[in-house]
Amino acid sequence: MKTVDSFDFAGRKALVRVDFNVPLNERFEITDDTRIKATIPTIKKILADGGSVILMSHLGRPKEGPTEKYSLKHIVAPLSLILGVPVKFADDCIGEQAKEQAAALQPGEVLLLENLRFYKEEEKGDVAFAEKLSQLGDVWVNDAFGTAHRAHASTAVIAQFFTDRICGKVMQAEIDNARHILENAEKPFTAIMGGAKISDKILIIERLLDKVDNLIIGGGMTYTFTKALGGKIGKSLLEADKLGLALNILEKAKEKGVKVYMPLDNVTADSFSNDAKREVFATGEIPDELQGLDIGPKTIELFSQVIAESKTILWNGPMGVFEFPNFATGTNAIAEAVVKATDDKNAFSLIGGGDSAAAINNAGYGDRVSYVSTGGGALLEYMEGKVLPGVAALEA
Ligand code: 3PG
Ligand code: MG
Repeated sequence: MKTVDSFDFAGRKALVRVDFNVPLNERFEITDDTRIKATIPTIKKILADGGSVILMSHLGRPKEGPTEKYSLKHIVAPLSLILGVPVKFADDCIGEQAKEQAAALQPGEVLLLENLRFYKEEEKGDVAFAEKLSQLGDVWVNDAFGTAHRAHASTAVIAQFFTDRICGKVMQAEIDNARHILENAEKPFTAIMGGAKISDKILIIERLLDKVDNLIIGGGMTYTFTKALGGKIGKSLLEADKLGLALNILEKAKEKGVKVYMPLDNVTADSFSNDAKREVFATGEIPDELQGLDIGPKTIELFSQVIAESKTILWNGPMGVFEFPNFATGTNAIAEAVVKATDDKNAFSLIGGGDSAAAINNAGYGDRVSYVSTGGGALLEYMEGKVLPGVAALEA
């Protein structure tokens, strides 16, 4: 695979697929710029070589063509500030004007294209659309790890129009870190799995059972496990059709000698809101009218102890509804324990993207773990052992 570091971009126009699918608030301000910051080294290397950069990305899931809410123009000013270079904008990602803007680009200059998903051809992987995009640059760099699980025009189909297909620095780091965890994890290896649904995590959990020593289960999905074991979960999250699956995971873990840790206690709420009344109940004893929204203090102690003794830690999914500050205690405590193991024990800690990345950044610990992934679904699929079309396109 060609890499950004090994390629000389002097005099070349690099068409770079990035994942700038970042969360925006109602004033169109970026609330987590991790994905933007991550791409800066790739962009800077190309500019330093004397190349120019044409950035392309999607934002959100627009269904009706151009939509103000999903315009990448909101990214131009923050990106210029982070990069320290003024960024030009093309308000259509293909067409005569985009072609002229790309052609006029001088070495050291950066152009950002409007949202690729304003054309339905992007998600369809349309070849003619991919070819139009390809005409804007003379080399293709794929640095969009977060979108590498999509076989879209700009992430995969476009590769056929370039002789120089180059793996970006984000893409490279993501693959290296994920491989390190899957192939060279120092033991004890602990996986912390959280989030709302077992169904999202089942494949990765099954794969990890062959690799980990400890499996910590937290977050909304624990209630399905508790219910399956005969406990009372009140109004807590439940995937009623996954009870058998939950028991099956526990059975498999036992067969493989993996120690499973589940919450001992839970913080409950009398409504789904930050201001709800909080109480602590032992696992399996949540009253009918209440719902569990966080792990309790005994659980924090237990989980933290397991984490402290680990040399490799993979964390994917929050321990509770961390978006509500009153129910973020468990998630923040786990973030703290992971940071402590990284500092004190020199443990390798990988934080799986999406919610867990937001949680670790919210807790202020983003730069104190070994690696925070920019991929949500992409990281899960990579770790499940699937071939990611965006990666395959670089290898072909
Ligand atoms: C993501 O945030 O998951 C990626 O940017 C891909 O977006 P998608 O799930 O809408 O394809
Ligand atoms: Mg997604």
